[in-house]
Amino acid sequence: AAVGLIIVAAGSGSRLGADVPKAFVPLAGVPLLGHALRGALACPDVVEIVVVAPAGWVDEADSVCRWARSQPRVASSSGPGIHTPGSPDSSSGPGLHSGEVSEAVDTGATRVEMRVVAGGAERGDSVAAGLAALSGEVGVVLVHDAARCLAPGSLFDRVVAAVQAGAPAVVPGLPVVDTIKEVDESGHVVGTPDRTRLRAVQTPQGFQRDVLERAHAVSSDATDDAGLVERLGERVLVVDGDALALKVTTPGDLETAARILAG
Ligand code: CTP
Ligand code: MG
Repeated sequence: AAVGLIIVAAGSGSRLGADVPKAFVPLAGVPLLGHALRGALACPDVVEIVVVAPAGWVDEADSVCRWARSQPRVASSSGPGIHTPGSPDSSSGPGLHSGEVSEAVDTGATRVEMRVVAGGAERGDSVAAGLAALSGEVGVVLVHDAARCLAPGSLFDRVVAAVQAGAPAVVPGLPVVDTIKEVDESGHVVGTPDRTRLRAVQTPQGFQRDVLERAHAVSSDATDDAGLVERLGERVLVVDGDALALKVTTPGDLETAARILAG
């Protein structure tokens, strides 16, 4: 089935505290959304991308899309491929060093359809807006946080492969390093789940389209889309996540991402 991708980028980024919405905060001169798009475009299966932007930032998101599609496509096996990005404003020059051009498997991503829609008050509302904007062609839907801006193409590939193999819902997850306690309202521990069975989940999350649509028809209120699908009683498969798919939430996370990019 054709794969469509929703990138949710409509949050304000209150914990980051920048003066622009988080997806437009620059990292090595490129907005987080631009990095996220380059990772997504490295996945050859994705044929359609809907970016969900804050109302008032749709035109800006559109120009980030045009910048991303003008960049050489990076082979998804070669990692994030965004070590020396050019600025979206620097339309002159490819913005890549010659050593990296050899990793590109395609120049431009002209066969990928991209559009931008305005998001909603909560993340789930933004996903719902993205779902409504997908074309009829799409049978498999990926949902990705722009804030996980360094997620590599290989992670998209892995999630897509599991959905194409028949899983109704797939999430990338990493083992948890801390012991996790469940607490009550008074701050007292209620229980300690067996850590070996816990996973910290990331995006992109992948779904058979009808499964995700049925989930959102009930409610869009959850911190991740797999949570909605779980309520339907559908099985959700966890595949290996990637440390590069960290979510930029705080100023410290932005520094971490900058360090990763610097190599
Ligand atoms: N998001 C969205 N629409 C919203 C809220 C969040 O599209 N109404 C997106 C964000 O842009 C982000 C992803 O969902 O890419 C994950 O959300 P989060 O990291 O919480 O981002 P923000 O909500 O922007 O940040 P904060 O919670 O600190 O305000
Ligand atoms: Mg938020």
